[in-house]
Amino acid sequence: MLVSAKEMLTKAKAGKYAVGQFNINNLEWTKAILLTAQELNSPVILGVSEGAGKYMAGYKTVVGMVNGMLEELNITVPVALHLDHGSYEGAKKCIEAGFSSVMFDGSHYPIEENVEKTKELVNICNELGLSLEAEVGSIGGEEDGVVGAGECADPDECKMIADLGVTMLAAGIGNIHGKYPANWAGLSFETLDAVQAKTGDMPLVLHGGTGIPEDMIKKAISLGVAKINVNTECQLAFAAATREYIEAGKDLQGKGFDPRKLLAPGFEAIKATVKEKMELFGSVNKA
Ligand code: 13P
Repeated sequence: MLVSAKEMLTKAKAGKYAVGQFNINNLEWTKAILLTAQELNSPVILGVSEGAGKYMAGYKTVVGMVNGMLEELNITVPVALHLDHGSYEGAKKCIEAGFSSVMFDGSHYPIEENVEKTKELVNICNELGLSLEAEVGSIGGEEDGVVGAGECADPDECKMIADLGVTMLAAGIGNIHGKYPANWAGLSFETLDAVQAKTGDMPLVLHGGTGIPEDMIKKAISLGVAKINVNTECQLAFAAATREYIEAGKDLQGKGFDPRKLLAPGFEAIKATVKEKMELFGSVNKA
């Protein structure tokens, strides 16, 4: 059964480790992530962007697929199904469809409007026992056509949003989605420290997990990050493994064109990437 992310993140923050949010795109992605979490006895959050939800034929399809896998694959570790960077309307749709967690990304609104809309969703989520992620300070890079500049959040604004009773808070600390440019200045630990000082026990979320050096990930966790989002890295691993298979001509040998064979190396590559991240984040055996 899907669970809210509250308990797993409260434990992670107290235990100084982070739970990975891995974004899903299709059946292979979902199965690879769930099986790895089960094998490593780790809690996990499946992230679905609005674009990926549409691609997978709608939120209800996603909920059906994930619930089916939890049962048929005997997944017993805590799993949350979470809307990533949701709009207000998108969040409501996911709640109706059966997601156990949603993110409302109001970071592009003036803070008053972000507060207003987040507050409404806090009430809805609390009533239903769902977890809610809010965002302050936009995360840079491009995701589903939305481009942010990689701001550093204002710690006072973070406190305003945290005090509304959200479950977890994403604060921009110079992080961006996708690959980091060669001239990236790195994470702003000064901002993170100031945000944690104002928000106390609130589990903080680090977006743009792809390509952040290991030492920075560990430092971020030590400063209160309890959830780390990874998307692009699984995509790159999947693409590289698939390319290798095709370039080796394996799709042309025997029944190598069978999708169950063609997609197998990419599937294994996702599993390996997720394992590496869970080990780095410290969530292994924390189910
Ligand atoms: P990356 O694609 O950079 O790993 O970021 C993922 C993310 O933050 C999803 O919200």
